[in-house]
Amino acid sequence: MLIAHLSDPHLRPRGELYQNLVDSNAMFLAAVRHLASLEPQPDLVLLSGDIVDKGTEAEYALAAEMLALIPQPVLAIPGNHDEREGFRACFGRNSFVASAGPLHFAVGDQGPVRILGLDITVPGAHHGDMDDAACRWLEERLAEEPARPTIIMMHQPPFDSGIPFIDAYCCRQGARIARIVARYPAVERILCGHIHRFMQLRFGGTMLVTAPSTTTAIALRLQDNAKPASFIEPPAMLLHQWRPQRGLITHLVPIGSFQGPLPFF
Ligand SMILES: [Fe+2]
Repeated sequence: MLIAHLSDPHLRPRGELYQNLVDSNAMFLAAVRHLASLEPQPDLVLLSGDIVDKGTEAEYALAAEMLALIPQPVLAIPGNHDEREGFRACFGRNSFVASAGPLHFAVGDQGPVRILGLDITVPGAHHGDMDDAACRWLEERLAEEPARPTIIMMHQPPFDSGIPFIDAYCCRQGARIARIVARYPAVERILCGHIHRFMQLRFGGTMLVTAPSTTTAIALRLQDNAKPASFIEPPAMLLHQWRPQRGLITHLVPIGSFQGPLPFF
C-alpha cells in the first residue's frame, strides 16, 4: 500500500497569489503533476489541511478543479485556513466527509492501513484543540480495531516544535493524544500539516511526522525571540509505503524535475 501525502496547498482563486506574493495554485499543480509521474502510482492521497487560504467559495471552486486531476481517492481534513462548510461542499461527493460537525473520518477499505482523520480545528481560530469530544472520537475509533495498522492524520501538531511563532498556534491539550495513542501500539504514524516543514519525533510511543507544504516553508528559526517568516524552499510531499513485514516507511519526495538518473557508482 502506497500513500502520497500532500499538505497546506493554500489554494487561491484563479489568477490570485498566496499572500499576494506566491503562486500557490501553480505550485500545487506542479505537485499534482509530480504525483502523476511517480512509479509505482500511489493507491491513495492524503491532504493534511489548509486546502485553501481564505475559505472562500472561489477558492474551493478552484480546489475542486485541481483535485479532479488526481485519479486516486483523496482523503482530507481541514486546516485553520479552511472553512468547514466550504470544505464539506468541495469534498461532499466523497463518502468520508461527515455531514455535520467536525470533519473526522475513519477509512479502512483502501488497503491494510486504516486512516483516521482527526479534525482538531477550532472554527474561527488558528490553533487546534484536542477537546473532550475529539478524545472520545479517537478513543472509540482506535478501540474498534486495536490491532489494525493505523495512521492518524491531523492538522495542527500536538507538540511544541521549537519554532516559537508557529507553536503559538499548535493543537492545545495535545498531550491527551499521546496518552490515548500510547495504549494502541498499532498506531504506525501521526501525520500533521500546519507547520509547513518536515519534522519527525517520538510522540505517545509512536512516530509523529509533519509534512512540508506544497507552497512556502515556515522559516526554520529556533531562537526564543524568532520573528515569523516564510521562505520559498524546494517544495516536497511525503510518500508512506506499507510493507507487511516491515511496517510503514516514510519518504520525503522533493517536487520538481532534477538532473538524472546518473550512474549509481
Ligand atoms: Fe498552512
